Amino acid sequence: GPVVAVVVAAGSGSRLGAPVPKALVDLDGVPLVRRSVDALVAGGVTQVVVTIPDGLAAEFASALDGVAVPVRCIVGGETRQDSVRIGLAALDAPDDAVALVHDAARALVPAPVVTAVVASVVDGAQAVIPVVPVIDSIREVGDGDSRIVDREPLRAVQTPQAARLGALRGAHAAAAQAGAVVTDDAAVCELAGMRVTLVPGHRDALKITEPIDLALAGAILQTRNQ
Ligand code: C5P
Repeated sequence: GPVVAVVVAAGSGSRLGAPVPKALVDLDGVPLVRRSVDALVAGGVTQVVVTIPDGLAAEFASALDGVAVPVRCIVGGETRQDSVRIGLAALDAPDDAVALVHDAARALVPAPVVTAVVASVVDGAQAVIPVVPVIDSIREVGDGDSRIVDREPLRAVQTPQAARLGALRGAHAAAAQAGAVVTDDAAVCELAGMRVTLVPGHRDALKITEPIDLALAGAILQTRNQ
């Protein structure tokens, strides 16, 4: 069946310090949003909706010109969650289509991570997320005090995250109605009673957020091109 995706790119990306929104920042001559969409297509995605900031339709259309599958850009919402809900509504596919949600900033996600997430849904998982171990030691702070957190059982959550389109739309509608605020789509699914399945992510799928991330992404690309 069809595999469809929402790529969220409506954030300002101010932490990157660039004059354009993060998704339009060039990495070795190719905008991050284009790299993200191409990575999803390489992983089997057949239709993409990109949520974009208001007033930048021409810039995004040019960044996405020539993508191998149908791509539509629509203006996103106030929060990431709003943007995902708007993007899901704009997808044209049956309820049982596999639907992915991906951060444009995770521009170097390897295609095998995308195919693993899709395969897990096809195999019957309700909601799927790629995760990686936490590298740093972690402390929890509060009240001027702090305490160590055992990092061994912790995982950092990446994208693309996936579920069946109908279930994902329903979960986002319910979360919006309840006013629930979470930072990722698996949490939205969990609130709706769906079981979350983890698959291995990849360090290359880092969320390019700060200038140092852009430098690291450039180095990853260089290694790939060797
Ligand atoms: O702020 P954060 O890094 O968590 O944003 C994750 C992704 O969500 C980014 O790719 C950003 O462009 C997107 N986003 C969005 N609509 C918003 C806010 C963020 O599409 N209103």
